[in-house]
Amino acid sequence: MSLAPRSVVIKGTGSYTPANIKTNDDLAKLVDTSNEWIFTRSGIKERRIADETENTSDMGAKAAARALENAGLEASDIDIVIVATITPDMPFPSTACLVQTKLGIANAICMDIEAACSGFLYIMEVASALLKSGSYRNALIIGAEKLSSILDWQDRTTCVLFGDGAGAAILSISDEADVGLLDFQLGADGANSDVLFMPGGGCSQPATPASIDNRLHYLKMRGREVFKLAVKVMEQAAKEILEQNELKSDQLACVIPHQANMRIIELLASRLEIPMDRFYLNLDKYGNTSAASIPIALDEARREGRIQSGDLTLMVAFGAGLTWGAALIRC
Ligand code: COA
Repeated sequence: MSLAPRSVVIKGTGSYTPANIKTNDDLAKLVDTSNEWIFTRSGIKERRIADETENTSDMGAKAAARALENAGLEASDIDIVIVATITPDMPFPSTACLVQTKLGIANAICMDIEAACSGFLYIMEVASALLKSGSYRNALIIGAEKLSSILDWQDRTTCVLFGDGAGAAILSISDEADVGLLDFQLGADGANSDVLFMPGGGCSQPATPASIDNRLHYLKMRGREVFKLAVKVMEQAAKEILEQNELKSDQLACVIPHQANMRIIELLASRLEIPMDRFYLNLDKYGNTSAASIPIALDEARREGRIQSGDLTLMVAFGAGLTWGAALIRC
């Protein structure tokens, strides 16, 4: 089969967040913090936390089912399933295979890709390239995380910032020109791998009683360094993609940033000279959901009418790795 598509479009989106809400005041009962500190430093008011029966694949499958419904497609229409996550249900098989079976998708290639909080933009470009090869018609891409499973609930510098959830999109080939996924600008710099990472659980430091005692199976972060790098790489990726496409920032109807920290987003907005009201924000409700952050925001922005047909939208992310990315879409 060779369909030689002209474009790849977003046919549908869906998202899912667990029902259990943990407010800043709830966290102040666990660690030495306050609603005032968390809100002024990050813009976060509350986050969703999955229960012990609800795994990344469960949340991913729920978001995906909503995306399929939104696209008007059936499970049998999907040829590719890609999940971006740093909290897979288990090291293998892939969470994509687990989602596949939960949704009854019979014939699809399935894989996980790990690019931390930039993961959704990474899988969007990978899926887009596969679709443009002409061998596939519809891809289901999912960003899903159960970050609560790798947070150190004794570490106030990290546990207050993150939450659980999932977002999904259906990407499909189209014969229309100049619509859908217009361009990507992805990047990575492994030299900064030590600012945000989880040391334990891989082959270099497998689980042992000592690794557990030393709390190696939890996310570690050097917050100030991450902050500075985040602003720098997101500004760079956003400027490059605008320049590559001969666009000015005032031509963007909407910006969907990775929802990590309000102060990072405000600095980015001022450096790009884009008014804050053009940014879609939901981090006050969910905190940082890593790979799920952009697809949850994309789904909510579409459903709330913040992105209209023909609008140019910029998505921009950064994450552990470091990784970063920008994507330009016309819905
Ligand atoms: N509650 C109360 N106090 C806290 C706290 C909390 N949850 N976390 C840290 N503190 C304390 C620190 O211990 C420090 O105290 P000290 O001055 O007595 O040593 C003080 O607050 C300032 O800490 P600092 O780390 O300098 O604060 P900050 O202004 O840099 O804010 C972050 C911390 C984490 C909010 C900020 O650095 C940040 O947002 N970084 C980016 C993180 C991010 O986005 N990560 C995800 C990447 S995808």
